[in-house]
Amino acid sequence: MIRKAKIKDIKQIQELINTFAKQDVMLPRSLNELYENIRDFWVMEDKGKITACAALHIPWDDLAEIKSLAVAKNKQRKGIGKLLVDACIDEAKVLGAKKIFVLTYKPGYFKKFGFKRINHASLPHKIWAECINCCKFPNCQESALLKTL
Ligand SMILES: CC(C)(COP(=O)(O)OP(=O)(O)OC[C@H]1O[C@@H](n2cnc3c(N)ncnc32)[C@H](O)[C@@H]1OP(=O)(O)O)[C@@H](O)C(=O)NCCC(=O)NCCS
Repeated sequence: MIRKAKIKDIKQIQELINTFAKQDVMLPRSLNELYENIRDFWVMEDKGKITACAALHIPWDDLAEIKSLAVAKNKQRKGIGKLLVDACIDEAKVLGAKKIFVLTYKPGYFKKFGFKRINHASLPHKIWAECINCCKFPNCQESALLKTL
């Protein structure tokens, strides 16, 4: 079942994200960042355990962002990532966003949902404020992709 995250899920969400971050396939998230942005998060709960998550963030104007998409290794390729991406896209539409983007190491995955590669520089300056604080800056290999809603 996918649902919006609750405070009690945060530590499991961090464990899930940071397991992949250690493998360099996504960016790590601090507990502080996760608590402050809890209302962005969707999770998949399976027998009381959080097995997947994704966040829908609104950084600016009519622009939405999918962040922190992760599905536990033993739950991958079962359509859970798709459920979460679709939930984020639907939520962005309900909020009135006109475009949705993602910064990712897996551009091929997001292309399946109609995202198209764009130049990082075309994103609002505010996005760069977060990049500057990232441990990967300035050597980030993430691709930027955007979908019009
Ligand atoms: C990338 C990830 C989120 C995919 O989640 P998932 O639940 O395994 O994916 P789904 O089962 O929903 O796959 C949906 C479709 O995408 C395909 N797909 C899955 N992983 C893919 C990848 N890395 N590249 C391209 N296509 C992929 C599936 O084959 C499926 O295609 P189909 O509909 O034609 O059968 C998951 O592998 C993951 O968490 N990886 C580690 C963290 C990570 O890399 N996150 C990326 C976001 S920054």
